[in-house]
Order: sequence, then structure tokens, then C-alpha cells
Amino acid sequence: MSNIQQTLSIIKPDAVERNLSEEIKKAFKINNFNILKEKKVKISKSEAEKFYQVHQSKPFYNDLCEYLSSGPIVVMVLEKNDAILENRKLMGATDPIKAEEGTIRKKYGISIDKNSVHGSDSLDNAKIEIDFFFKD
Ligand code: CMP
Repeated sequence: MSNIQQTLSIIKPDAVERNLSEEIKKAFKINNFNILKEKKVKISKSEAEKFYQVHQSKPFYNDLCEYLSSGPIVVMVLEKNDAILENRKLMGATDPIKAEEGTIRKKYGISIDKNSVHGSDSLDNAKIEIDFFFKD
């Protein structure tokens, strides 16, 4: 049964800085994701705090927000059947050391913070995150 979904993907500052955006976008395309929307932006720390508010009670929240706002990022709306789960599979585990071979985080991630990509973790969060960057 078809279950077309949209998810938000972010190419994080560590990957943009290393000029990996095109290579990472190619990985999405090869894996049959349609990139419906895309833009390169630099967000402020307070915007990052809003984006990651689900993590506000975590000990790494401040560093995470500092980091996401530290340089340009590429944000994309990806569409595919089961896009949320499929994107999480393609990204691999949050910590690149634990990510499987062939995943984006295994290939490009530097550390749990500098893990190159973000992807929505649920349908509800995908809607919230897509609106955050693309609501006009
Ligand atoms: P991301 O998928 O963008 O969602 C939240 C981010 O917090 C996560 O990727 C990691 O980069 C970062 N993070 C830092 N420390 C941790 C941790 N201990 N557990 C989970 N995520 C962490």
C-alpha cells in the first residue's frame, strides 16, 4: 500500500562546510527521495532553540543550538513512500560510530553532534519542522 510522506531533512553545518551538500543530496536522489523544496539558510541561536525545543530538557540542548546556528545549513522537504522511516534508515544511527555501513552518518558524520544530517522522527514532527522552515 502506498504511504507517501514528507519529511524535513537538514544538512548540518559540518557537512555544508566540507562541501558535502551535493553528495548528500545525490544519496537522497539515488534512494528515490524527491527533493520538493530546498534552501540554504543560516539561523540564529534563538531560532535553533525553537527548532530543537523538544530537546530543551536535555543536557546537550545548549551546545546543539549553538551548533545548528554556527554556520549555513541546507534544509529540504523530502518526499517518498514511508519517507520518515526511510530517511532515518538512510541517515543511520544518531552517533556515527554506531551507524551502519553505507549510511550518511557513517560515511560523513564526525561525532554525535557533528553528525552531518537531521531528519524528522515522526509524522507530527515532520509537519511542525517543515512549517518551521517553509511556511510562507
Ligand atoms: P538530530 O537528529 O539533529 O537531533 C538532535 C541532535 O542532538 C542529534 O541529531 C545529535 O546531533 C545531537 N545530540 C548531541 N548529543 C546527543 C545525545 N547524547 N543523544 C542524542 N542526540 C544528541
